[in-house]
Amino acid sequence: MHARPGEPEGLLQGGAEGYLEGVGEMVTGWAWLPAHPGRRLRVTVLFDGHPVTTAADRHRDDLKAAGKGDGRCGFAVVVPDAFAGREHKVDVRLPDFPDLRLRGAPRTAIPSLGLVILRRVPPGEAIRLHAFLAGLAGLHGAGKAAAPDMAAVEAWLAAPDRCWLTAERDGAIVGHCRVGPDWPAEPGEGALALGIELHPDVQGFGLGRHLMQAAHRWAAGWCVRVELAVLPHNDRARRLYRTLGYADLGTVRLPVTGEPHRHMAIALPAMVPAARWPFVGCVLVV
Ligand SMILES: CC(C)(COP(=O)(O)OP(=O)(O)OC[C@H]1O[C@@H](n2cnc3c(N)ncnc32)[C@H](O)[C@@H]1OP(=O)(O)O)[C@@H](O)C(=O)NCCC(=O)NCCS
Repeated sequence: MHARPGEPEGLLQGGAEGYLEGVGEMVTGWAWLPAHPGRRLRVTVLFDGHPVTTAADRHRDDLKAAGKGDGRCGFAVVVPDAFAGREHKVDVRLPDFPDLRLRGAPRTAIPSLGLVILRRVPPGEAIRLHAFLAGLAGLHGAGKAAAPDMAAVEAWLAAPDRCWLTAERDGAIVGHCRVGPDWPAEPGEGALALGIELHPDVQGFGLGRHLMQAAHRWAAGWCVRVELAVLPHNDRARRLYRTLGYADLGTVRLPVTGEPHRHMAIALPAMVPAARWPFVGCVLVV
């Protein structure tokens, strides 16, 4: 049985719930059965299809604080020697619930990124960009419908006063960054807003900095300031923005939900507008 329509994808058969969090030297995550919080679930981690089974029975304070029963539902599996240091797919199954997918899975463990191409997405590639955004939303368990709709993506790509960049590796989009008139930048003040997200597989390599610097190079011809909003607990993003030179302007609230974010901004040097540049750059990220 699959998650019913309208249910978050993290809610699994029989109400089991789980998440694949980290891949790398260890594969980490959690799984539990809210209806039977004392039951410890079996978890099978597949390395390129090779199974390693363990129990989701590790205590974690953050899981307890998040209301996942008594917090004894974490799992951690050491990557077998045969897969260490080489790129491989990681998937997770719950053997007692064979039809189920864990939220956040599957992932690719990447020891080094290698060559990444940064490019401005041309209007004809809206479908490809939209598919990537929908995939990210699905991975987060938000459901593919949480991605921006196709018409909005097409409109953004067609407008000259905004830019959507992608980072691509081995021919696949692995990250995106867009700059344009949007919240939290106020219209008429010479500022544009920036939003960035990398696929979880390529986070932590320093790629976010390259992508933002490329976006700044484009934006320098179009606005005097770039602004963004970031959740207060997003330490990695806040550190990146600070080290790029963003100043913290205080609290700004998301228009619909009122959720508080940190409002940050960076002033840009005036440059020639880059709208007609075939914006392509290569980055070697190890
Ligand atoms: C935020 C994001 C764009 C950063 O890009 P990245 O390439 O993964 O960034 P890095 O791993 O190079 O980390 C950036 C900095 O934060 C530091 N950092 C990494 N993890 C951290 C953590 N958990 N806590 C604090 N700092 C952290 C890094 O050391 C690095 O600092 P340095 O350059 O001084 O060493 C990327 O992780 C991402 O897409 N995250 C998910 C989506 C998101 O949060 N988007 C931003 C919404 S506002």
